[in-house]
Amino acid sequence: MAGASIAVASDHAGFDLKELLKRDLLDAGHDVLDLGTNSTVSVDYPDFGRAMADAIVSGRAGRGVLVCGTGIGISIAANRNPRVRAALAHDVTSARLSREHNDANVIAFGQRLIGTEVAREALKIFLATTFEGGRHAARVAKLSKD
Ligand code: RB5
Repeated sequence: MAGASIAVASDHAGFDLKELLKRDLLDAGHDVLDLGTNSTVSVDYPDFGRAMADAIVSGRAGRGVLVCGTGIGISIAANRNPRVRAALAHDVTSARLSREHNDANVIAFGQRLIGTEVAREALKIFLATTFEGGRHAARVAKLSKD
């Protein structure tokens, strides 16, 4: 993966899950780049989706984890950058397939929607799964075309 660090970012509605997943990543020995937010005080998710995109594009992070209330707004924000492939995952299967088929470089969760243990397991699978390439490679390449 390009860039060793894993970036994490959330808005206020994703803060608790972001902190939990960050702790899991640190415990597993990963370098973590925390892009905020740093509390449950209300903030705007587009700012954090954009910060994630900047971290991925600059190479400061190779992968990323986003959390907001639903995971929708913050993943939309990050995906406005064509170099970001942020997958909104609700379970382990979508996390795995986002890597195998889409070469997703960011996973997004909705703290208000997903069970904590499902999110923890989905993140582990996301990080452990490789892109299948093959018939998927040309499709993924099209996603980044200007
Ligand atoms: C914040 O209330 C909420 O709208 C936000 O976290 C997210 O769910 C938006 O998509």
